[in-house]
Amino acid sequence: MDAEQMEYYKAKYQTLEDLPGVGPATASKLKEIGFRTVESVATAAVAELVTAGIGEATAEKVIQAARKSMAITFVRGDELVELRKQVRRLTTGCSSLDRLLDGGIETQSITEFYGEFGTGKSQICQQLCVTAQLPEEQGGLDGSALYIDTENTFRPERVMQIAPRFGIDPQEALKRIIYAEAYTSNHQTVLLENADEVIKENNVRLIIVDSVVGHFRSEYLGREMLAPRQQQLNKHLHKLIRLSRAFNAAAVITNQVMAQPDVFFAKVVQPVGGHIVGHMSHSRIFLRKGRNNLRIAKLTASPYLPEGEAPLRITEQGIESDDDV
Ligand SMILES: Nc1ncnc2c1ncn2[C@@H]1O[C@H](COP(=O)(O)OP(=O)(O)OP(=O)(O)O)[C@@H](O)[C@H]1O
Ligand SMILES: [Mg+2]
Repeated sequence: MDAEQMEYYKAKYQTLEDLPGVGPATASKLKEIGFRTVESVATAAVAELVTAGIGEATAEKVIQAARKSMAITFVRGDELVELRKQVRRLTTGCSSLDRLLDGGIETQSITEFYGEFGTGKSQICQQLCVTAQLPEEQGGLDGSALYIDTENTFRPERVMQIAPRFGIDPQEALKRIIYAEAYTSNHQTVLLENADEVIKENNVRLIIVDSVVGHFRSEYLGREMLAPRQQQLNKHLHKLIRLSRAFNAAAVITNQVMAQPDVFFAKVVQPVGGHIVGHMSHSRIFLRKGRNNLRIAKLTASPYLPEGEAPLRITEQGIESDDDV
């Protein structure tokens, strides 16, 4: 973090107990529902605190104080420009993909990689865990990564293969990755809900959920389960966005695809998870297999970048493009 960023993130209140109106009882209620830091309280909703048994007036007061402390309040357009300056880009470590993304993936928002099995979604995630550790001058975030793995496909050995290409010692690289396997959708949700302290303590600047919808899809079966499923998914993604904002971290999710039922002649696929995931992902990148083991990344949604494509390869060293040396 540079000096300017430090100034912005230097919360006036350091711990929950510092917040006006928060005594030991309120602090423990907050912690019980996953709000352990001033940063995360600043992004909380009054209703969330009320369900934990905190009075509405107190909840409002506490959230306001946390927001003031974090400078999350109404801003003028010119101030918004200043706030946007806090957004950092994280290099993917693959030149063609970086060009497609105008330098890399953004902090304070969700980037979604979607595609069929074996297209490289998890490979990209593992590479990002390495590049996030690079200093900012080299396109990194000088931080750690948090990896929530729902499919048990994260491999430390793979990270160790990728790290040297970026000049990072393999063992050191692993020390800056915090890993959790999520066994159910509920477990996945709880892990993220309780992540704020881990994120703060370890200077996590990249949060990965690989894959985000898998458990939800296999557990919520049938039409009547669709609404509750989407509601839980919505909550989960909201938490992810809020954590990425509070800690100026990049959030990355992966997603499978399904064939669109009515299309006969062209093979059209779309990401699973419905409108919720699409709405919450700021940037969406579709991965597909090309000839000669090539992978093609296509930017299908971005707040301000044009659509485009980038060829890449999965090699021993990670994700690369032909102009990477
Ligand atoms: N060390 C390596 N060298 C070269 N290619 C590798 C290496 N490790 C993995 N791969 C390739 O990466 C691909 C798998 O990519 P990945 O696991 O990222 O897919 P995915 O998109 O996450 O799939 P899924 O939907 O099943 O999770 C395979 O084609 C595999 O051959
Ligand atoms: Mg995968």
